[in-house]
Amino acid sequence: MLCASLFWYIVDFIYRLGEVFLRMEQIVINGRRPLQGKVQISGAKNAAVAIIPAALAANGICIIDNLPNIEDVVSLRKAITNLGAKCKLHDAHTMEIDARNITLFKIGKDEARFMRASYYLLGVLLGRFGEAEVPVPGGCDLNVGGRTIDYHLKGFEALGAETYQDDEVIRVKADKLVGADIYLDSPSVGATINIMMAAVFAEGNTIIDNAAKEPHVVDTANFLNKLGARIKGAGTDTLRIAGVRELGGGEYTVIPDPIETGTYMIAAAITGGDITVENVIPRHMESLTHKLKDMNCKVEEDLDFIRVWADAPLKASVVRTSGYPGFPTDLQPQISTLLCTVKGKSKITETIFDNRFRYVEELNKLGANFKVEGRAATTDGSCLFRGGEVSATDLRAGAALVLAGLAADGEVRIGNIRHLDRGYEAFEEKFRALGADIRRVGHN
Ligand code: EPU
Repeated sequence: MLCASLFWYIVDFIYRLGEVFLRMEQIVINGRRPLQGKVQISGAKNAAVAIIPAALAANGICIIDNLPNIEDVVSLRKAITNLGAKCKLHDAHTMEIDARNITLFKIGKDEARFMRASYYLLGVLLGRFGEAEVPVPGGCDLNVGGRTIDYHLKGFEALGAETYQDDEVIRVKADKLVGADIYLDSPSVGATINIMMAAVFAEGNTIIDNAAKEPHVVDTANFLNKLGARIKGAGTDTLRIAGVRELGGGEYTVIPDPIETGTYMIAAAITGGDITVENVIPRHMESLTHKLKDMNCKVEEDLDFIRVWADAPLKASVVRTSGYPGFPTDLQPQISTLLCTVKGKSKITETIFDNRFRYVEELNKLGANFKVEGRAATTDGSCLFRGGEVSATDLRAGAALVLAGLAADGEVRIGNIRHLDRGYEAFEEKFRALGADIRRVGHN
């Protein structure tokens, strides 16, 4: 794990050098414009990156709609094509996947370089074919010493698989999977989905206790059920899965992205603007909606839109991340960025990842006044962001820097933006349509 972390540190370092010497791509923002208008939210990244691998469970054709047009989806498409699946794009957001003739159960290092979700190929290939090998996954570096997947492997072992992991690869193999009672030490999203995908094909019944309840867990279960799986309880902390021999094809529409939704809601608040996010599920946004209302933002919602505006001074607050329906860790950097502009002392506690305040150093370069102690960050508030050059340390850190740029007095240049491209569809275009002065410069 330490080796994997060192690897990502070196990759990141090389990118930063590249930015300086090769003028790699940067986002340039001239802020202090209240953003106004409507924005269409794309399909959920974290649902899409589970549902695309889940389509490999089908002995039939799957058509998946409302996929976000982001780098993680492009990488997954390449990876499953190399396994022998036929992937056809009907349009930028609709993919047809035919996995009837998969010939390979192993993906190469290059195909999973920056992507975390490659680990879902373990569960689905183990379930359907009895074996899989993936490189140790990439993605955002949010834990000291790396993001382990021990719960996933423990779950596969409970179903009867043999597992192997070193610094480079993870391998799983089983002659036969048999249902089991599995308890997750904490409600991991990835482990819940991965074990569920394998258990779909296990003989008999599987129970996953202390399961994650996130909307993308439910979305993946709904998709698998549409193909013929028998999963009950998704969205609660106990999943019950009755094994089946085979799944067929089917059509499915991915849910809207709650984190993209939240990022634009916070953009309305931080710029003193008025934004309506459309094609959303307001129920998925309740922790943020309530927090913004507590802070004195105005929020109005209907079936599939939320309008957020801020026409009075906002109030400081306290945020503590937790699993759904608690406040999502993936919106922690964004809400922290907002809180440091608000008068008064705020405190943000991160309970999911132990290294998710790396963005603070970058925000402080733009004038923020965060102090981090362990898993908590405090700010005295009233910060007026200023111009400067910063670098995105991970995906949501990149979103936080964009928000700071939108509120800043002076030009903000953000590097290492490959992270943003992994998870936000057309974010400059969407922000520009809301009135932001934001552009991409350099080349990749
Ligand atoms: N954990 C373990 N062992 C495991 C699995 C998890 O110790 O086997 C720990 C992790 O190290 C972490 C915590 O449990 O400290 C939570 O991890 P979880 O498994 O829930 O996260 P994940 O599946 O790796 C997904 C999302 C993340 C999101 C988290 C939490 C995907 C592809 N990623 O990660 O999304 O932050 O759930 O909700 O779905 C993002 O979109 O920016 C992002 C990082």
